[in-house]
Amino acid sequence: MKSVRLEHVTKAFGEVTGVEDIDIHIRSGEFFTFLGPSGCGKTTTLRMIAGFYFPTKGKIYFDDRDVTHVKANKRNIGMVFQNYALFPHMTVFENIAFGLEVRKLPKKTIKEKVERAQKLVHLEGYGSRKITELSGGQQQRVALARALVIEPDILLLDEPLSNLDAKLREETRVEIKRLQVELGITTIYVTHDQHEAMSLSDRIMVMNKGKIQQVGTPQEIYNRPANRFVASFIGESNIMEATVLEVGDDRVTVEVEDGLILQGWRKNASPNLTFSKGKKIFLSIRPEVIEPGEGPNSFQGTVQFTEFSGVSINYLVKTAKHEWKVMVINTGSAIPSIGDRITLHIPENGIYFVEDER
Ligand SMILES: Nc1ncnc2c1ncn2[C@@H]1O[C@H](COP(=O)(O)OP(=O)(O)OP(=O)(O)O)[C@@H](O)[C@H]1O
Ligand SMILES: [Mg+2]
Repeated sequence: MKSVRLEHVTKAFGEVTGVEDIDIHIRSGEFFTFLGPSGCGKTTTLRMIAGFYFPTKGKIYFDDRDVTHVKANKRNIGMVFQNYALFPHMTVFENIAFGLEVRKLPKKTIKEKVERAQKLVHLEGYGSRKITELSGGQQQRVALARALVIEPDILLLDEPLSNLDAKLREETRVEIKRLQVELGITTIYVTHDQHEAMSLSDRIMVMNKGKIQQVGTPQEIYNRPANRFVASFIGESNIMEATVLEVGDDRVTVEVEDGLILQGWRKNASPNLTFSKGKKIFLSIRPEVIEPGEGPNSFQGTVQFTEFSGVSINYLVKTAKHEWKVMVINTGSAIPSIGDRITLHIPENGIYFVEDER
């Protein structure tokens, strides 16, 4: 298994910048995800690692080998494209065998390897089926087997679940993770779906507008977002502008637009944020940290909407300038009605200070 290092990689398409200054080190055996909205540069970055695009600036290494300008077929990578790119007129066996035929391996070896790959993705006995005779999930697994059969050093997956319905998506996600753990293969996964990214990844690179926003474990990205973009893109959050009133050794006091004064821990801040009196900053407050009743940082609001999900109750609570998303774990107690005035509070630890997006 190989590590992948991108050193200050930039890709320009004429005037358009695809990605800018991508600097990451993906460890050997790691499950690493590129996450971000449409057009943020995920596929561009993946294609440079695959060797289908070459960087305008910067270098790419597999372990210590400089592959910046090495062609795709000389990199030993397995890739699953978003639309699978299977050959519809060929059988499952022929599709999986394709990469091995190109390498001119003996027939017997090809047969053994293809059968092993079929087994890996639970498609034993499907060898003679045509691609058109398979379900979406089965086609997805053929694409995966075709990428794995060449025993790649690195597996690249570009939105591999996007064509599947919710249930198959779930099943295939578990399957991909199982395979990755079993084979220990360095895997780079592209998605715009934060749930998929969180549940699969060892680490995630969050991207926006061609730039890295944050690299970290799912917990780091969720609990300690580097900026406003990450805080709003990952999970639900109440993001609001605030003015710094007081900066203490441990605590910071701010005023949000409503005139509401809140106090939080200074350490609960994105790494590059500095505080000074009068400065405008942003707060990120997760719906699940807000608690009913009196307590620190308490405020009153009017219930606009309630939704009972079984495990939790989700509310929208209106104050003068904001609509607060609140999530309370269901304990069986009465649920307030729409129009009720309720008191809520935010434990100090639930306030996270973030800088504006880059
Ligand atoms: N071949 C190309 N020529 C010109 N511009 C391109 C080319 N490929 C990508 N771009 C531009 O580079 C930027 C990044 O595109 P990219 O395909 O990497 O986004 P993405 O994150 O994969 O988006 P999606 O989630 O929609 O697949 C976009 O602005 C896109 O228009
Ligand atoms: Mg893409």
